[in-house]
Amino acid sequence: MLSKKIEKAINKQINAEFESAYLYLSMATYLNNENLPGFSHWMKTQYEEEMFHAIKMYDYVLERGSSVSLDSIKKPKHQWKNIIDVFEDTLKHEQGVTKMINDLTSLAIDERDHATVNFMQWFVDEQVEEEASVSELLAQLQLVEGKGSGLFMLDKEAAQRTFTPPVN
Ligand code: FEO
Repeated sequence: MLSKKIEKAINKQINAEFESAYLYLSMATYLNNENLPGFSHWMKTQYEEEMFHAIKMYDYVLERGSSVSLDSIKKPKHQWKNIIDVFEDTLKHEQGVTKMINDLTSLAIDERDHATVNFMQWFVDEQVEEEASVSELLAQLQLVEGKGSGLFMLDKEAAQRTFTPPVN
């Protein structure tokens, strides 16, 4: 069983993951309306990843014999200036999530909950990947100034993104 402190912290993180999913789905809608189907698909895939993160934590809490308490999810932002603005927001958001994941891992270390420290390691690694892929895309978008044939090509590439849930 998880300590009450850890249970509360993971429940907070579950809510943050659902909140991330909702934000990315909102971005996918905006990008679709901006006639960028590839980037809209990319963001919808990001939404799927966040749902996976939330459920991975949900399953872990139950597996440890503790309780999940679902909270409300705030209304996501739905308007951006342009695609560069969207990806700047995404990077900022992921940097915030990284801090939350690190804080949660530090709490598990303080509580000497080795199973949770081990579990959180997957998320620590995942954040490195998430920040790197968003930074790379943002740099490419800045390179083509978020417009013209460069943007058209990047949109085609973004359409190729897939998400396969990892086996464990
Ligand atoms: Fe669940 Fe994008 O981190």
